[in-house]
Amino acid sequence: MRILGIETSCDETASAVLEINEKSGLIIPLSNIVSSQVKLHTKWGGVVPTLAAREHLKNILPVIQASLDAAHLTKNEIDLIAVTNGPGLAPALLVGANTAKTLSFIWQKPLLGVHHIEGHIYANLIKKDYRAAKFPILCLIVSGGHTQLILIKKHLHYTIIGETQDDAAGEAFDKVARILNLGYPGGPLISKLASQFNPTNAKYAVKFPRPMINTPDFNFSFSGLKTAVLYFVKKNQDKLADKKFIQEVAYEFQQAVIDTLIAKTIRAAKTHKPRNILLAGGVSANTELQKQLAKAIAKNYDATAYQTLDITYSLDNAAMIAAAAFFRYKRVPAKKSLFATWKNMRIEANLKLK
Ligand code: KG4
Ligand code: ZN
Repeated sequence: MRILGIETSCDETASAVLEINEKSGLIIPLSNIVSSQVKLHTKWGGVVPTLAAREHLKNILPVIQASLDAAHLTKNEIDLIAVTNGPGLAPALLVGANTAKTLSFIWQKPLLGVHHIEGHIYANLIKKDYRAAKFPILCLIVSGGHTQLILIKKHLHYTIIGETQDDAAGEAFDKVARILNLGYPGGPLISKLASQFNPTNAKYAVKFPRPMINTPDFNFSFSGLKTAVLYFVKKNQDKLADKKFIQEVAYEFQQAVIDTLIAKTIRAAKTHKPRNILLAGGVSANTELQKQLAKAIAKNYDATAYQTLDITYSLDNAAMIAAAAFFRYKRVPAKKSLFATWKNMRIEANLKLK
């Protein structure tokens, strides 16, 4: 079957077409179009919801058309429309959801709402044989709004076993980038600076805390770390002109985040014994996190458990929404009911994963 995915929960206008070959089990991306608004929001230091919505409105139809064109398909060859219905910025979510509802009605296609984080999780199955997924799965979610450890006993059955008590990991990257006057979004900027630092040439002996790293649970905390960076930078204003200082702060901050994420993931793996371990959400684009997590799992648990996510699907995209929709679709007994979804689907800014 072929699924058209639509995603507008934050600052990316995205549309993608997936083909699911139920004989081979392969989830094949036919197209994956993402129109980023980063430039628009940079001057505000973060995403402005109403500006994001206005931009989505301008881009959504051309982006959907581009995803059909790139897949060499017409609307008639689409079997299902899937759209993010939460969580996210309400004005932004509304554009995608209302467009999807309208297309569902006009094209007479079934429609499914998908949880954004469920999309991030299922991004891991794109370009793979979905039948090879081994349950239970442990998934570390690290995005701009979420940091969670989720245990998945079977498709679509989630237990959140740990989560951040304050800021999300991506949010911490963004806030620290602001403290260092680097711009937005912070993750890619900080990771680039961190990669330029060589620990054997440390000049400033920067050391930040690893909050909650030793607590006997699977929770996280990043706001204290961010505050530690803030105070340290305030005390060392005179050094901000030295690129080496910024690189060292970026490196040590990133390492503090990676250390806590890895420690809790290994603790959760040892307790819950997953057969697969996945990484998902925008922060998974951090290659140092990917590398160190794979190494830690190999050393402390089981090298074969970790499944690497294709970096193309780390950041917000619509292919991941279409992928998750396939598993939801399989579970709906009366497929006909999905033709009426356009009437009653609601967006929810704080939608919970169930
Ligand atoms: O999943 P995502 O695209 O949007 C949300 O659902 O929030 O994640 C965005 C977050 C931002 O906070 C961004 O700074 C972070 O992912 N991010 C990174 C990297 N690339 C993006 N964080 C660390 N290292 C990166 N390379
Ligand atoms: Zn996301």
